[in-house]
Amino acid sequence: MYNTPMLARIYSCAVVGLEGVIVEVETDITQGWPGMDIVGLPDAAVKESAARVQTAIRNAGLPYPRERVVVNLAPASVRKEGPAYDLPIALGIVMMQGNLNPDGIKDALVIGELSLDGIVRHARGVLPMAATAREKGFKRIFVSEQDAPEAALIPGLEVFPVNTLSALYGHLAGFRRIEPYRPSGEEPPPLFPPTDFAEVKGQEHVKRALEVAAAGGHNVLMVGSPGAGKTLLARALPGILPGMSIDESLEVTKIYSVADQLPAGTPLIRQRPFRSPHHTISHAGLVGGGNIPKPGEISLAHRGVLFLDEFPEFGSRVLEVMRQPMEDKVVTISRAKGSLTFSANFQLIAAMNPCPCGYYGDSQKPCTCAPVVVTKYQKRISGPMLDRIDIHIEVPRVDYEKLSGDRLGESSEAVCARVQAARDIQQKRFSNSNSEIICNADMRVGEIRQFCALQDEGQSLMRAAMSQMNLSARAYHRILKLARTIADLAGSEEIQSTHLAEALQYRPKLMQI
Ligand SMILES: Nc1ncnc2c1ncn2[C@@H]1O[C@H](COP(=O)(O)OP(=O)(O)OP(=O)(O)O)[C@@H](O)[C@H]1O
Ligand SMILES: [Mg+2]
Repeated sequence: MYNTPMLARIYSCAVVGLEGVIVEVETDITQGWPGMDIVGLPDAAVKESAARVQTAIRNAGLPYPRERVVVNLAPASVRKEGPAYDLPIALGIVMMQGNLNPDGIKDALVIGELSLDGIVRHARGVLPMAATAREKGFKRIFVSEQDAPEAALIPGLEVFPVNTLSALYGHLAGFRRIEPYRPSGEEPPPLFPPTDFAEVKGQEHVKRALEVAAAGGHNVLMVGSPGAGKTLLARALPGILPGMSIDESLEVTKIYSVADQLPAGTPLIRQRPFRSPHHTISHAGLVGGGNIPKPGEISLAHRGVLFLDEFPEFGSRVLEVMRQPMEDKVVTISRAKGSLTFSANFQLIAAMNPCPCGYYGDSQKPCTCAPVVVTKYQKRISGPMLDRIDIHIEVPRVDYEKLSGDRLGESSEAVCARVQAARDIQQKRFSNSNSEIICNADMRVGEIRQFCALQDEGQSLMRAAMSQMNLSARAYHRILKLARTIADLAGSEEIQSTHLAEALQYRPKLMQI
C-alpha cells in the first residue's frame, strides 16, 4: 500500500487538428453517492468512460471505490473526444485507493481505450501525441500494443506496449515489468501496389507528360475517349513517383494517424500517398471537416497524388472548394471555436472524357453530342481550375498494331530513376531556401525569379506565347515552373527554349482558356 495522494494526476493527450495538446487527468474520490462525474469539456464517448472504466477495474481484480469519483480533464478549453482517456482515468482511480506509487507515472503519457474485460485498445492520433510528449519533456508513453510501433517513430521516447489494465498495474506496482517496445526493423509490404508503365501500350507522349509531372509535382488533366487508357495510366503513376524523405514520411503519417487511416502493421507511411476518391464524395470528405474536424482526401493526399477520375462528375461546388488549397497547399476549416489548418500539398491528376458521349475529337467514332452540350460539359470545369493545371494532355485511342504488339514499353523502374535524379537536383536547389519547398511546383514568385530565368531566345518565345495564347499571370508562372522541371529532367542548368516549348505545348488548347 502507498500513501493515498490528495489527488491523482495522470497525463494524457488530445489531438486538435494535427497537433497534440497535453491533457491532465485529475481524479479525486469524495464522499457521496457512488458514481462518476467527468468534467472539462468531454464529448459523449468520454462520458461513457464511466461505465467502461468501472467494469474494467473490477474485471482486472482491482477494487472500485464505494464513494463518488470526480474526474477533471484540464485544460477545460480543449474539447476531449473519443475513448482514449479510459486508461488514465482507470489508473487515477487505482492510485487514489493507495494501490500505486504516483512517482512511477509522473513523467509519462497514458493513452488508451478500455474494453470491459480490461484490454487496452487502439487510439487515434498516437503519432502526434507521441511527438507532443517528446516536445514537452515526457520520458515515457503507455499505449496499446497495436499503437506502440506508431509511437516508437518518435525518437527519444520510451514506448511501453500495454496489453491490459492489469498488465499496466503490474508494471507500475513493480511486480511484472513490461518491456519497452523495440522496432523489428522489418519493412512493411508496399501500401499502393502500382501497375507497371511497361504494361501500358503506346501513349508515349502521355507517359512523358506523367514523367514530367512526377518529377516536378505538377498537376495534370488527361482528356480522351472511353477506353483510351486514362485510368490505367493514372494508376501506373505511383510506380514512378520519387521516394519520400523521412520528414515527409512523418508529416504524412501524422495526417493518417489523426484521420485514423493508418493500415494495421504500417506504423510509418514510406510511399507517397495515391488517393482516388469516387465522384460522389461529400464536401467534408474531400477537403476535411465534420463535427470534430478530420483531414479530408486532399490532406490524405499530402505529398502525394490526388487522382480525380471522371473529373466533371465531381460537380463544380466540390471542385471550387479545392481552388484555395491548391494555391495555399493547406486547407483551413473554420469552426465556431476557432479554425484549424491541415496540410494539403498534393499533386492533382484528373481524367475526363471530352463530352458526355465521350467521343468528341475521336479519330474513328463520331461524337453524337450537340456542340452546345459539349461546351456545357467542358464548362463544368471552371477557368480558374483549368488555370491551376500545368499539364493538359490528350489521350487518343491506341491503334490495334500497338495494342496487340508484344513490344513492352519502358519499365516504371527506369522512368522512376530519371524522376528521382530530377528530384535530387531540386532538393539541392531548395536545401538553402525555405524548407517547405520540396519540388518545383512548390516554388513561389521569389524562387521563380531566382531559379527560372530565361535566355534571350526563351524570352522572345515566351512573349509571343503570352500574347497569342492569352495567358494569365498565373499561367506564366506555372509555365516557368514546368519548364524548370523539364530542364531538370534533361540535367540542364539553364532553361533552354526547347524546354520552354515543351512546357508551352502542355497548355490547354481546345477549352475556354
Ligand atoms: N494503352 C493501353 N495499353 C494497354 N491496355 C490498355 C491501354 N489503354 C486501355 N487499355 C485497356 O483498356 C482498359 C480500359 O482502360 P481505362 O479504364 O484506362 O480507360 P479510360 O480512358 O479510363 O476510359 P473511360 O473514359 O471510360 O474511363 C484497361 O483496363 C486496359 O485493359
Ligand atoms: Mg477511366
